[in-house]
Amino acid sequence: MKIIKAKDYKDMSRKAANIISAQVIMKPHAVLGLATGSTPVGIYKQLIDWYNKGDIDFSEVTSINLDEYRGLDHNHNQSYWYFMQENFFKYINIREDSINVPDGSNPDAKQACEEYENIIHAAGGIDLQLLGIGNDGHIGFNEPGAAFELATHCVDLTESTIEANKRFFGSKDEVPRQAYTMGIKSIMQARKVLMVANGKGKADIIKKAFFGPVTPEVPASILQMHPDFTLVGDEEALSKIELD
Ligand code: GLP
Repeated sequence: MKIIKAKDYKDMSRKAANIISAQVIMKPHAVLGLATGSTPVGIYKQLIDWYNKGDIDFSEVTSINLDEYRGLDHNHNQSYWYFMQENFFKYINIREDSINVPDGSNPDAKQACEEYENIIHAAGGIDLQLLGIGNDGHIGFNEPGAAFELATHCVDLTESTIEANKRFFGSKDEVPRQAYTMGIKSIMQARKVLMVANGKGKADIIKKAFFGPVTPEVPASILQMHPDFTLVGDEEALSKIELD
């Protein structure tokens, strides 16, 4: 586990974007596992900026997103597909047919999740998986208690996640209660994992996840066991841990 301390959100975003950019330069046909949430937005902005300057080319990249709300189709403005288009894809030259997000509009959970695992395998696995972290330690939508051995599956969102995500919807009632998410197994199979965290609100969970026991009660804690895991956090998010 490698922990990189950034001064602030902008610095965190730039450092993480540098790592992603290096991955794409080293392997132009890289498979990037991408994430939603407010934390990665600055990374996408930075990558768009470098793309506009001609420093990075996404034409051969494949993207595989972590998760999607069950019941929302691509056009819903809170779907993760829509989020990725609006925050990243529509500004870069990634090919439309190289973009993958679980199909939230497919009511058949088993089929939607199996199809997604097939996509990951057909792409040759994920080279670099980007992650944020939920307040309760969830990664993707793997909530506390999630079995470590699950691949892509359908989850019931916890009250804490529904509460945290209601800010993006008109009201709490509109937040979907379920999601399709890559499982911990799918995430752990990525060759490289990059987590970003910023702000005081994440300080406790960062300490618990990476300086406490590895337990399904804190899904992110499993990343302590990943052979190539990097956390880039700003000073506030890393304020409760000691770094040498
Ligand atoms: C959602 C997403 C996660 C994300 C988390 C934290 O629940 N499914 O992938 O990491 O929110 O979001 P934020 O970065 O906004 O704190």
